[in-house]
Amino acid sequence: MNVLLLGSGGREHAIAWKIAQSKKLSTLFIAPGNAGTHECGQNVSLNLSDFSSIGSFVLSHSIEMVIVGPEAPLVEGIHDYFLSLPELSKVKVIGPVQKGALLEGSKDYAKAFMQRHSIPTAVYHTFNKDNYDEGITFLKSLKPPYVLKADGLAAGKGVVICSDLREAQQEFADMIQHSKFGNASSKVVIEEFLSGIECSVFAISDGKTYKLLPVAKDYKRIGEGNTGPNTGGMGSVSPVPFADEIFMKKVEDRIVKPTVEGLISEGIEYKGFIFFGLINVEGEPFVIEYNARMGDPETESVFPRIKNDILEVFDAIATQTLDQINLDIDPRFVVSVMLVSKGYPDAYEKGIKMTISKAPHDTLYFHAGTKIVDDVIVTNGGRVLSVSSYGNTMKEALERSYSAVQKVNYNTKHFRSDIGFDLQ
Ligand code: AMP
Ligand code: GLY
Repeated sequence: MNVLLLGSGGREHAIAWKIAQSKKLSTLFIAPGNAGTHECGQNVSLNLSDFSSIGSFVLSHSIEMVIVGPEAPLVEGIHDYFLSLPELSKVKVIGPVQKGALLEGSKDYAKAFMQRHSIPTAVYHTFNKDNYDEGITFLKSLKPPYVLKADGLAAGKGVVICSDLREAQQEFADMIQHSKFGNASSKVVIEEFLSGIECSVFAISDGKTYKLLPVAKDYKRIGEGNTGPNTGGMGSVSPVPFADEIFMKKVEDRIVKPTVEGLISEGIEYKGFIFFGLINVEGEPFVIEYNARMGDPETESVFPRIKNDILEVFDAIATQTLDQINLDIDPRFVVSVMLVSKGYPDAYEKGIKMTISKAPHDTLYFHAGTKIVDDVIVTNGGRVLSVSSYGNTMKEALERSYSAVQKVNYNTKHFRSDIGFDLQ
């Protein structure tokens, strides 16, 4: 079949790399893609908010399946758009309809959903202009640190954690009264701070049942030892040693099953990835956030461990036959080290020429912010390329990735040298 994958990050290169190995594939198109996805299929220039152009492309290229990488088109309703048009309604879209994607698109909606289905999460209240004063009173009732979340999508920047009350009150005012995140912060969720270690659990759902994908952990902060500002992700590890059988049973029973059953009971046919951002508080899992897509850079560690023909899995999601799929997972570790542009997540240069030597055995390169200009690969973003390696132990995988990092060079190269530090 002909397949269209939407997105341009390391996540999409990892998904494209898997799709390219499928026996069911005829032609893979990636929109807009990057220099890495160019090796897996044909990059095409499409605007991911322009559903009408995407639909026309799908029809003119006889595409049977569309896989949506990032959240924005899902939250904007791309799956609903396809379902609404007779000529597109048979196309298999991997990614939830808008009501499902709201689990990511609205923090308030996600928290209320968890409350309705008794899913463990931090105690919270939601505020807007009309009950602003109650928000201040609620903040005063909490112990520091204070967690404030813009309700809507804010390019990953909408969560602010403040160590003192004055700072939290100022942040609350900035979000609600001064529209710090535009419309996304017209509502703000204030919640209790949970202390623990985080991990990312992924499920695929066909709207009837689900399967768990390998669990992963990502490293969000720019600095060693998890310090400094948040980034899109500086690396990831899969599996996660503390997410053992006992912990994962709690996750499934208390979080994954009630979520999938909750979606079904609310009439939301969810066909796609569910990303549970969890925190382990003394052995008990709590949901920090839902996302309606795979994680980035978690995908760069999770997808290399899936041995199945991925288009068979995606087809089962679309045709609601996931109960007939047995996922075959590589028991080895995969560790991904993200190479970024110096200066990221603040200002950084783009267009820097890259030299990339052949990946060693057991290492994969997944491009993120790269593009080809006049046959030369250049940097094109803050996160540039993920170096992902297999190993029988985490240590072995780490050693391989850190050795392979030397084979990718560009003037502004920067990376964290302590990925996995808290798991060993
Ligand atoms: P999010 O954008 O929802 O992933 O939040 C960003 C980060 O903020 C999370 O990965 C956590 O590290 C942190 N965070 C969010 N909510 C809480 C909470 N209730 N307690 C502690 N940390 C939190
Ligand atoms: N790695 C976290 C995310 O994709 O949101």
